[in-house]
Amino acid sequence: MNPLESLVPRPAHAQVRPGSFVLDQHTSLGLQPRSGLDGVARWLRSELALDLPAVPVADAGIVLGLDRGLSNEAFTVDVSDRRVIVRGGDPAGVFYGLQALRQLLPASAYRRAGAAGAWTIGGCHIEDAPRFGWRGLLLDVARHFLPVHDVLRVIDLAAMHRLNVLHLHLTDDQGWRLEIERYPLLTQVGGWRRESQLGAGPTAQGDGRPHGGWYSRDDVAEIVAYAAQRFVAVVPEIDLPGHVQAAVAAYPTLGAGLDGVTPDVWTRWGISDHVLSLAEPAIRMVEDILDDVVGQFPGAVVALGGDESPKRRWHRDEAADARKAELGITRDADLQNWLLRRLATRLADQGRRTLLWDEVLEGDDVPGAIVASWRGDRGVALGTRRGYDVISCPADSVYLDYRQSDSDDEPVPVGIALGVEDVYEFDPQPPTLPPGGGTVLGAQCQIWTEHVDSARRLDYLLFPRLAAFAEAVWTSGPRDVHEFTQRLGVHGERLRALGVEGRDPSGPRPWQSRPGVPGNPMTRTAMADHLSTIVAGMRTE
Ligand code: ACM
Repeated sequence: MNPLESLVPRPAHAQVRPGSFVLDQHTSLGLQPRSGLDGVARWLRSELALDLPAVPVADAGIVLGLDRGLSNEAFTVDVSDRRVIVRGGDPAGVFYGLQALRQLLPASAYRRAGAAGAWTIGGCHIEDAPRFGWRGLLLDVARHFLPVHDVLRVIDLAAMHRLNVLHLHLTDDQGWRLEIERYPLLTQVGGWRRESQLGAGPTAQGDGRPHGGWYSRDDVAEIVAYAAQRFVAVVPEIDLPGHVQAAVAAYPTLGAGLDGVTPDVWTRWGISDHVLSLAEPAIRMVEDILDDVVGQFPGAVVALGGDESPKRRWHRDEAADARKAELGITRDADLQNWLLRRLATRLADQGRRTLLWDEVLEGDDVPGAIVASWRGDRGVALGTRRGYDVISCPADSVYLDYRQSDSDDEPVPVGIALGVEDVYEFDPQPPTLPPGGGTVLGAQCQIWTEHVDSARRLDYLLFPRLAAFAEAVWTSGPRDVHEFTQRLGVHGERLRALGVEGRDPSGPRPWQSRPGVPGNPMTRTAMADHLSTIVAGMRTE
């Protein structure tokens, strides 16, 4: 296959041109002056393991520059006998142009060492631009902690696929993974659990093995800087008012309706019934925590969750009763949104936007929030109609922890079968949207990690489906799954050169299966019924 026909994501325009360029140890690199491309050049040298000596643009083999006529993240690549020219609307565009250029090299160019040789690139002209500005991957590091070097590797792989958001789900019932200066027990206590449930469903046993870990401030600084060098914004998520059992285990003041019983960090999967207290000291503590989060994560968006929060404990909690009386609120969803509004306002005062799961649509407005619609298209339609900007992340299309086929061999099969073709067909933009003030910013795939306890298991679930997702959010125009599958063959060689252990089309390798670990597979009909039931509480106005 001509490398130009194997680009992933598929570009808007690609044309063969005369000539060819040889990239080798002697190739030089010229940057348009004052273009702010030094970081991109540093990245290129290190990725290709080539010196690429710096020379003036007029003498350079590879030229990098900006073209103000291009939109943000858009790029052109021109390869001729004499030179390679990569231009972007901004440095991110140049970076994506270089990601495309790299795909014109043999797969061995993705190896870290020993591969650099004389690579011949056929003459061509490529023009490309993303369909959506928000191209995200959610990584759940709460259910299973992922060491920093593995997070950095995920960032590299996301950036290779031109994703630009890493949403880090940092806290949940089963673990708190972010160091907070004023509240060290959040990690010292909340960062560990006694054991983990092995598999899905009520009969799943505990594995008897403690699990834990957290990111220090230095770890976070490294993750954020590494991501920024690759044009990936890190969105930290502190999930509340539900999914807080690990935090309550560390600081019982944070819990509602405890009746004097402090929980352990949860060792089961599912939705714990712990919920944040609405007493003033608890909310103040959360505000302190968020101030620390803002200090650690410089990005424009902070996620506060708001999903799946059971209210039972509020119903037996004096502080919740007092709040309802004080605010004249009768509905739990409005009480939750009052809390989210208060916290979102504080974040806005510090220049941040708040990202919330689509449960926010069950209550009154949280102005300025971005809605992450995870329970189907209804949240996209309703969210934009109510004036929210929305990110499409439907479970039934882009939850990459879901099983990849109907085979019993799939490791811990949960959810519906979502093959690479299904993910490829995902369209973030519903065909019709009711008029409203909000827009669809883009989409995000999710990898929840209840059953993902290592980078190898992560690879199996992410690849090749991440490539299909990347194309769904990057490439405009019609899709042809057959043509995509052909390109995926070549792309698989790139991934293998990087050491990615994805899923083979034939299914899991024996060591990738998990015999005896129970799953909880669903049919598409059962999933559709489930999703339509749980969105029933969304308010249309
Ligand atoms: C979610 O899956 N609870 C966002």
